[in-house]
Amino acid sequence: MTAAREHFGSRIGFILAAAGSAVGIGNLVGFPVGAAKNGGGAFLFIYAIFVALICLPVMMAELAIGRRFQKDPLGAYSSEVGGGGWRIAGWLAVITPFMIAVFYSVITVWILGYLIHVLMGNLDQLASPEYFGQFINTNEVFLHLLVVFGLVYFILVSGVKDGIEKGAKILMPGLFVMLIGLVVFVLMQDGAVAGARYYLVPDFAKIDAKVVNGALSQAFFSLSLGMGIMITYGSYMERTENLGGSAKFVALTDTLVAFSAGLMILPAIFSFNPSIDTAELSESSVSLIFSFLPKIFLAMQASIGYLGASIVAALFFTLVFFAALTSLVSITEVPTASLVDEKGYSRRKALLILGASMIIIVIACTVSFGRVEFLSNFMAYAGANKSLFDVIYDIFYDTILPLNGLLACLFVIYRWKKHNFDAELEQGDESYRGSFSEKYVNFSLSTFIPLVLAIIFINTVATKYFGFSFFG
Ligand code: PHE
Repeated sequence: MTAAREHFGSRIGFILAAAGSAVGIGNLVGFPVGAAKNGGGAFLFIYAIFVALICLPVMMAELAIGRRFQKDPLGAYSSEVGGGGWRIAGWLAVITPFMIAVFYSVITVWILGYLIHVLMGNLDQLASPEYFGQFINTNEVFLHLLVVFGLVYFILVSGVKDGIEKGAKILMPGLFVMLIGLVVFVLMQDGAVAGARYYLVPDFAKIDAKVVNGALSQAFFSLSLGMGIMITYGSYMERTENLGGSAKFVALTDTLVAFSAGLMILPAIFSFNPSIDTAELSESSVSLIFSFLPKIFLAMQASIGYLGASIVAALFFTLVFFAALTSLVSITEVPTASLVDEKGYSRRKALLILGASMIIIVIACTVSFGRVEFLSNFMAYAGANKSLFDVIYDIFYDTILPLNGLLACLFVIYRWKKHNFDAELEQGDESYRGSFSEKYVNFSLSTFIPLVLAIIFINTVATKYFGFSFFG
């Protein structure tokens, strides 16, 4: 006999856990810079529309699959409703998070390393241009790796209610407070307004097909869609819970955090580096966090002293670390749930097996920045040499998510069938029946959303691997 499935203890517990997954590095740095460079307020407007009209229905579809089947993604797609070729979708929804967890751990480890160095008083070193390249090749990263894996293990081994939910209840409010504190501090600095203006003033002339594609990909990724996470978290939701309402809350929280992060990052950049050439702002979150922002924090010493600047930097890295940790927890939970559901392993056994296999690939990634030649030049495509880390990033982080989302939509509408999907969403929310939302969600999921996701997937494959873009 199998034990009853564990569920989240409260609505707010679920919302914080799902928001913890959604709020990540993408929100805190990727979104602000992407928005600022691609039309400011105009980008924000398009992004918000995509969240509401495209991503929210997909999130509801994923959560509903999980809640209906009470299983991990592989189990749900292999159930009596799925089976056959749908198992492939199930495998994709398990392998994708496994590989993203590998890649995301590498970055989380660097964040922890930077946080520790700021706390040790080394902000000036972090701000030097060569530091990042040297840091990622030091052996101390292995120590930080053990700490990050230990924390994720510690949270996940305690289960859904006492682990994931409790962790989110501690980390997320902390994250909100730090974010608000930093936004207020930054906005009070001289010159902050120029940054806020650069971020917010709409420039519709910058909006082209490529920016639209980018905004949708960013929204999809930011809400943790296509990663199997919402299916898994949905399987821990009670039937009495209002699924659509909770999904809206999660999407709103994620978007508000991304928006607020822009009010922290851009004013900080403009205030402490007024002569900034905005072309310098790379859209890569990694180079921004590790190479660019430390310089900005160090520049703050002119007005608040070295200690003050170090405190601001420490708060920022703690904020990013909390965001990354809750995302890492959610993504690691997907393969964990698969081993528990499909193989009947205990959580501890599942986590130890996963941890052991993940750490091998994480270490391979860690030495793929020059230390091991074969891993550093792992493959070549679209005219560039790629390290193992780059390849994992390109395939699992940047390409496959819309495909997984597309499969989830098709599964819900054409395999599980609309009326069953509706019935699932009506559980816990009587008013959903016959509502406008119900009609819209059904219509969009069976028509333009799969189409849009298919186009994005095909365009990304063409651009990334063949150097050819449909959108110029
Ligand atoms: N939504 C996360 C972000 O914005 C993405 C993510 C979630 C990445 C879970 C990894 C794991 O950064």
